[in-house]
Amino acid sequence: MLVTGKEILQDAHEKGYAVGAFNVNNMEIIQAIINAAEETKSPVILQASQGGIGYAGVEYIAALVKVAAEKASVPVALHLDHGTDFKQVMLCLRHGFTSVMIDASRFPLEENIAETKKIIEIAHSMEVSVEAELGKIGGTEDDITVDEKDATFTSVDEAKKFVHETNVDYLAIAVGTAHGVYEGEPNLDFDRIEAIKKELNIPLVLHGSSGVADKDIKKAVSLGINKINIDTDIRISFANAVKNFVKENPDEIDPRKILGPAREAMQEIIEGKMKLFGSAGRA
Ligand code: G3H
Ligand code: ZN
Repeated sequence: MLVTGKEILQDAHEKGYAVGAFNVNNMEIIQAIINAAEETKSPVILQASQGGIGYAGVEYIAALVKVAAEKASVPVALHLDHGTDFKQVMLCLRHGFTSVMIDASRFPLEENIAETKKIIEIAHSMEVSVEAELGKIGGTEDDITVDEKDATFTSVDEAKKFVHETNVDYLAIAVGTAHGVYEGEPNLDFDRIEAIKKELNIPLVLHGSSGVADKDIKKAVSLGINKINIDTDIRISFANAVKNFVKENPDEIDPRKILGPAREAMQEIIEGKMKLFGSAGRA
């Protein structure tokens, strides 16, 4: 069933677990995520970035996820990941997304608050939940790149002001993770997660979560992270499965035979994440 992001994340916030938000670009990825959610009885968030929407088309993404959600026995939310402007968010609202992210984190605090408030007034009137970002998460997510030297951790005081003034449903915080593949080990600022959660009574979001050690993910969840974004780990399992298949079967031309094993490989990775995040068995 298709539900709002808040419906899924409020339960996670109250009970102290996290839900995976997995990036989708095509049918096979959507099916891998839904199959994993059904298998582990997990609520799940399917999110499309602006790049993903540009690739597949907003109508296709919305239609595919809605069909998947209708068929599923678990709660499913359709979320816009890193929407950077008003128009992009409106497009997704018009196509029935049940959760949207307005990422105005590149602006100074007051401007970020103003941009976020504008979206919230409209989205909330349509009963759609909103995620915003405060602080700057490093790395590259599709068409958004933040250089490591420009990445800044979320300030506890600013987070308090931001949530008070915007009434945002859940907040993405910068605490040491980065988008894309890590070169070294990420160093998470657990004290900061704990301090922010203590001040804010809302679900918190961790971006750049692929490649973070399982023990660090578990600790972050125990301190108050409730939505965990995963894109890169799915890309890696998809690409490896396709490459291996083609290497072993260079004459194969049937897309179903080439993509089928990749769909299974992604499902396995995603099931592991759902168990790790604590969402398994919650649906
Ligand atoms: O918004 C999407 C996620 O933050 C992706 O993070 O590159 O670590 O998978 P990732
Ligand atoms: Zn992200």
